[in-house]
Amino acid sequence: MHNPYQPEPAKIVSISRQTSSVKLFRFEFAQNIPGWKFSYQPGQFVELSLPGFGEAPFAPCGGIKEKYIELCVRNVGKLTARLHAMKVGDRVAVRGPYGNGAWPAGKYDFKVQKNLFIAVGGLGLAPLRSLLLGKNYFLGKDTKVQIFYGARNPQEMLFRHEYENWKKLKIKMELTIDKEHAGWKGHTGLVTTLFDKCDVLQNSVAFLVGPPVMYKPVLERLKKLGFADEDIYLSLERRMHCAVGACQHCAVGSYYTCKDGPVFSWAQIKNIPDAI
Ligand SMILES: Cc1cc2nc3c(=O)[nH]c(=O)nc-3n(C[C@H](O)[C@H](O)[C@H](O)COP(=O)(O)OP(=O)(O)OC[C@H]3O[C@@H](n4cnc5c(N)ncnc54)[C@H](O)[C@@H]3O)c2cc1C
Ligand code: FES
Repeated sequence: MHNPYQPEPAKIVSISRQTSSVKLFRFEFAQNIPGWKFSYQPGQFVELSLPGFGEAPFAPCGGIKEKYIELCVRNVGKLTARLHAMKVGDRVAVRGPYGNGAWPAGKYDFKVQKNLFIAVGGLGLAPLRSLLLGKNYFLGKDTKVQIFYGARNPQEMLFRHEYENWKKLKIKMELTIDKEHAGWKGHTGLVTTLFDKCDVLQNSVAFLVGPPVMYKPVLERLKKLGFADEDIYLSLERRMHCAVGACQHCAVGSYYTCKDGPVFSWAQIKNIPDAI
């Protein structure tokens, strides 16, 4: 039987560069355990480890119902620098998935009642890609999806070669970059400025993922538009160690981000000081 606390060997089967500091890795599991197949829900995360370099959480961005998982990893420190130096065929260890994966499985049945509005910045698009690529599994046939996505400049936009395909899935994207940039004809300004320029989908649940600095101003905009606290979901990033609710490193009020989150509704955390 598969033990979710035990790291499983996984092999890098492809690597592609997304931005100057971000690479997309595809991993296949060794499948040593008869009958076991890795599966996860969008919003959950895994812990990836490399002996001698440590372990860190990453939210899969692809591989829903596939025999592989994809992680989009920014090179920021010890483990991620080592991973960025690795080649196809090299091996890592992965344990999980952990967390609640609450986006699709939360309060709403998207199949019958709600559209989905997403406000996302920078690397935050990674976990949402799982949801977008798995749209047919998690959302209704007629669920409309609208994304406000902000990045520093056009080269920092993740998955930019996939947007044309996403449009075919009836995903409407509004892109913005922080400042004017040669050749860029889209919006400029922070994600919040898109609220002044574009209409937000009616009858929506809102998902927010991105740098913590984005959350307060986006929440203000959503509240002005009349979103209920229960209809707003945020993914919180906290330093994690055990990932299973034992070490208390990731506490937010009475919640553990690793176990009760990382996705929370605003109604759950709005009264917790420093939650965002
Ligand atoms: C649920 C979750 C999902 C994540 N998903 C992704 C993902 O899909 N892709 C991705 O690239 N990263 C993701 N991260 C962040 C990633 O786990 C960290 O960047 C990672 O710990 C870096 O490991 P390192 O050993 O390379 O860096 P370290 O050497 O440990 O640290 C490098 C720098 O990052 C800072 N740092 C490390 N972790 C955190 C943190 N949690 N919060 C604030 N600062 C931190 C350190 O202080 C240091 O300045 C996620 C984090 C969480 C909690
Ligand atoms: S990381 Fe240990 S309790 Fe969450």
